[in-house]
Amino acid sequence: MSSKSRKKVLLMGKSGSGKTSMRAIIFKSQLAADTRRLGATIDVESSQIKFLGGLRLDLWDCGGQESFMDSHLTAQSSTVFRAVHSLIYIFDAESTELLTSDTVYFLKCLRALQDQNPTSAAPSPAPSSSSPAGASAGAADEGGPTVFVLLHKMDLVPVDAQQGKLAEFEAEVTRKARESGYKGALKFYGTSIWNETLYKAWSIVISHLMPSLSSLRAHLNSFLVLSSASEIVLFERTTFLVISSVTNDKDAPDAEWDERRFERISTMVKAFKLGCSCVFHLAIAAVSTETGLLTRSPAMLFTSSFAGSKIRSPFSSLAITTPRYTAVL
Ligand code: GTP
Repeated sequence: MSSKSRKKVLLMGKSGSGKTSMRAIIFKSQLAADTRRLGATIDVESSQIKFLGGLRLDLWDCGGQESFMDSHLTAQSSTVFRAVHSLIYIFDAESTELLTSDTVYFLKCLRALQDQNPTSAAPSPAPSSSSPAGASAGAADEGGPTVFVLLHKMDLVPVDAQQGKLAEFEAEVTRKARESGYKGALKFYGTSIWNETLYKAWSIVISHLMPSLSSLRAHLNSFLVLSSASEIVLFERTTFLVISSVTNDKDAPDAEWDERRFERISTMVKAFKLGCSCVFHLAIAAVSTETGLLTRSPAMLFTSSFAGSKIRSPFSSLAITTPRYTAVL
């Protein structure tokens, strides 16, 4: 596999900021409520995730407890920070040390990133915050790693104070980063596992990693013309993150179009798939422990088969028969 299609992404931030929760929701389809049961990450947990077009994401979830952070910044610095495509740094919006010790750790990470990837001294083109489609693929390869800064747990900040808090945080952290000598781009987002802001930010991160985004967009444009659709959105199959989208100029979004429509679709479909998989497991239990005949509503069988790859994977040739319906999963 070429290095262009393998991307190393670091997930860093202090303990309890929410790194593993994000990873579990986006890549393991866990429910937000279930993240309360997650334990602290020991050292580094790396996972390989395959994406559309043969892209492989090496995601390193770096434990945020002080002893681990210190070790990542000293003894393990070259292992952790070398050959990084993107750093996603998570700040806990509720932390009382947000602009003090939390920022100090962040600046140390920037320094290590710069030391281990000398090109990160040069400003790298930042992806557009307004649309994943605006992300510039492969930018990190030319201009050094891209740094995404997430001010997380924004649900704990009063709604009318969120924008101001993010703007103030962005200005302050950017100023400190510049003062410390970091010249690369920093991209800020406010996120929460309890709403679609998580999908918005991660869609931008993922589309930024895609090596063939421009050719994908060209295909989407052709499909848009052929289908006479108003808009086409491409979602990644497993995570349901938005990879790219194209809109017919004649139907350009106006005030009536929900700005967050893509992230809302991601959140809803993910929740729907999760709901379906629960129903499916109940169905399997009924088949194996009772008569072998399953009497459930057609709606349940429909939703079971609609849930797709997650459900089909372990039982690809299973047929469930009811007196009136047969569903092959
Ligand atoms: P380490 O593994 O020690 O580095 O911590 P971590 O950064 O991986 O934190 P983790 O994901 O384990 O989350 C800690 C707690 O924060 C959990 O109880 C989560 O449910 C909670 N949490 C995560 N994201 C959010 C969020 O957006 N809002 C709120 N209110 N809580 C969150």
